Amino acid sequence: MQSTPNIDQFVPESLTKFAYQTFQEGKKVFGFVHKNLSNQLTEMAIPERKGIAKPLTPETLNLLQQRLAKLEETDWQDAQTGVYPASLLFDNPWSDFFRYYPEVWLDLAKIWQRVQKKEYQKFDTTIDKEGYPNYYLQNFHYQTDGYLSDMSANLYDLQVEILFNGSADAMRRRILAPLKQGLAKFTDVSAKQMRVLDVACGTGRTLRMIRASLPKVSLFGIDLSPAYLRKANQLLSEISGELPQLLQANGEELPYLDNYFHGISSVFLFHELPANARQQVIEECFRVLQPGGTLVICDSIQVTDSPELQTMMENFPAIYHEPYYRNYTTDNIGDRLEKAGFVDIDIQNHGFSKYWITCKPVA
Ligand SMILES: C[S@@+](CC[C@H](N)C(=O)[O-])C[C@H]1O[C@@H](n2cnc3c(N)ncnc32)[C@H](O)[C@@H]1O
Repeated sequence: MQSTPNIDQFVPESLTKFAYQTFQEGKKVFGFVHKNLSNQLTEMAIPERKGIAKPLTPETLNLLQQRLAKLEETDWQDAQTGVYPASLLFDNPWSDFFRYYPEVWLDLAKIWQRVQKKEYQKFDTTIDKEGYPNYYLQNFHYQTDGYLSDMSANLYDLQVEILFNGSADAMRRRILAPLKQGLAKFTDVSAKQMRVLDVACGTGRTLRMIRASLPKVSLFGIDLSPAYLRKANQLLSEISGELPQLLQANGEELPYLDNYFHGISSVFLFHELPANARQQVIEECFRVLQPGGTLVICDSIQVTDSPELQTMMENFPAIYHEPYYRNYTTDNIGDRLEKAGFVDIDIQNHGFSKYWITCKPVA
């Protein structure tokens, strides 16, 4: 079992900050170069794809840089104020990177074939598709086998980091401060008795972060994909602390008792759900949350509060297969939360993500 080294104890703050900024810059350049190269190759293979994305103006690019710089600063500050250890800033699945990065390129040819044939619901014949909601059986982001193969699970984290120019983890970490604050309200419950659920935990990146920030709480994760849960189990077994309990389940029908959890998080799920499923997941979170418990949702920015990035939001579903994204960008999640019974809704934006922090009323 690997224990997390405590960088804070032996490296001066200025050096750690410099190392963090360099690390982020490296990921940014890597993501940018990768996407540029892969777009050029795709346009050579499928010339009709040329011009599918509208170019971003220099002002928009500048704004994106500013948002990322602000995100990094908040990320750094939260580590400094002890929301999580500074070592979390450098947590990266390196062995997976070296092992699976070539596969990202090898998979391109298969993606081109599906794009050309407009096949967005194609799965290997060995994959059992029974029991999943129809909306889920998609090659989201043109991923080979959607969420239903081990290879897809092996490539996922890498692909998300590339997509967000290395800022995906920094955006996930923005759920930690409000989640911690929410749990602190339960003054008569010990950390060990606290229960936190991550809905649509995927490969477990968010759970890994929650474990670093809240070493003693009991962690739970659900996801529809058995392959992603297997990967999550593998990655979460590498870190110290009690192993989170993972279950294969639909967020629309959470397999837990009413009023069970003190906190719930959900990261990058809502844009991949049709509107009615979004509502259903919110209702279920409300049901299984204790009165006074906190729900933190993180997903893409939306048009209402980031109109200046609308072109980017239009480009995303044009470049990647994201059938529910357009509807998501104008969906009023706040209204949905209120309809379910949630109160005190706070909205934040960090980087390319939006956050809803809300709680279930006590009485
Ligand atoms: C974009 S990924 C996000 C994964 C992870 N939360 C993260 O931060 O990377 C979406 C995840 O949602 C899961 N998912 C989609 N619809 C679901 C549903 N109705 N119930 C549970 N999981 C679902 C997928 O299997 C996938 O793991």
